[in-house]
Amino acid sequence: MDKQKVDILISSSVWDPKPWVEGLSKSDLVGNIHVWPTQADLTNVKVLFVWKPLDKGVIDLIPNLKWISSLGAGVDHLMTDPQIPEHIPITRIVDPFLARDMTNYVIMGLMMHQRSMLRHLDNQKSKTWDRITYKPLKVGVMGLGALGGHLAEKLVGLGFEVFGYSRRLKRIEGIKCFDESDQKEFLSHAEVLVNLLPVTPQTVNILNKQLFSSLPKGAYLINVARGNHLVESDLINALDDEQLSGALLDVFWEEPLPPSNPLWEHTKVTITPHVASVTTPNSAIALLLDNLKRLREDRELLHTVDLNKGY
Ligand SMILES: NC(=O)c1ccc[n+]([C@@H]2O[C@H](COP(=O)([O-])OP(=O)(O)OC[C@H]3O[C@@H](n4cnc5c(N)ncnc54)[C@H](OP(=O)(O)O)[C@@H]3O)[C@@H](O)[C@H]2O)c1
Repeated sequence: MDKQKVDILISSSVWDPKPWVEGLSKSDLVGNIHVWPTQADLTNVKVLFVWKPLDKGVIDLIPNLKWISSLGAGVDHLMTDPQIPEHIPITRIVDPFLARDMTNYVIMGLMMHQRSMLRHLDNQKSKTWDRITYKPLKVGVMGLGALGGHLAEKLVGLGFEVFGYSRRLKRIEGIKCFDESDQKEFLSHAEVLVNLLPVTPQTVNILNKQLFSSLPKGAYLINVARGNHLVESDLINALDDEQLSGALLDVFWEEPLPPSNPLWEHTKVTITPHVASVTTPNSAIALLLDNLKRLREDRELLHTVDLNKGY
């Protein structure tokens, strides 16, 4: 590619684009930065940074587009968008801070569950002295990628018995690993199930009635991947039937979660508003600029999404 400064378009319908614009504009690799929606001429734009679905027709306005990056770890908002041509490489954010924050969130949820923290908080309100006991827990991590792999290793360090599940069989010290052919066996161990899969046609609605019935009775679910993984009505039934003892949910089919959604009021569900691990602009910008340098030097981009796998 020619070595001129590169013009960028940022489309982020959820996050404030300001810190991204400020951070990127400090680099001498970067030319004009446009923020969608804009009336500007985008002919010179070569790079598109996106968080959440692109408006229809945006791609048609960028005839010289060379690279698209998600501004988060997930790329489901891009994989299902028919306007994106197959020849444009798509990358995502793989950032140690994102992995650290996700691990910390899941450990918080796991500990709150193991130590019955919500019951202790209730008991405090009624001045009740109830020495609720706790037991060691077996944790199943679905998805052993950048986030799930990091989490699984940290959980081993904390003394949990950890079971891991991925598409291809992994070998990770201290973790009993399973692949798709052994899903049932994996699930049978998971007293706490943590979902860190990407959304693909194979994983949409994977957290369903059948899967819940393969977990040990009274298992606890932590869904931090995507809402599209979960059949919400199946979860509610599994909680009401006591097949599951509770769930910590950070992601939902519809975000923000509508006030009418019954999950809000379910006594066994704890909800957070998609904050398990949020991209930090400063560290992500360093990764984006590294890839921008690679693009200008016609080198391979890092953290490219495999369109065939869909993640
Ligand atoms: N809530 C939040 O705040 C938040 C923040 C960041 C990310 N996320 C979510 O976390 C997800 C995971 O991120 P990541 O960076 O860890 O992804 P990743 O590095 O792409 O890892 C995905 C893992 O899932 C496995 N996998 C994919 N399809 C599978 C299938 N059909 N059956 C079994 N395993 C399968 C992969 O197996 P292989 O190893 O064999 O390829 C890999 O181990 C993201 O896609 C995003 O949705 C949520």
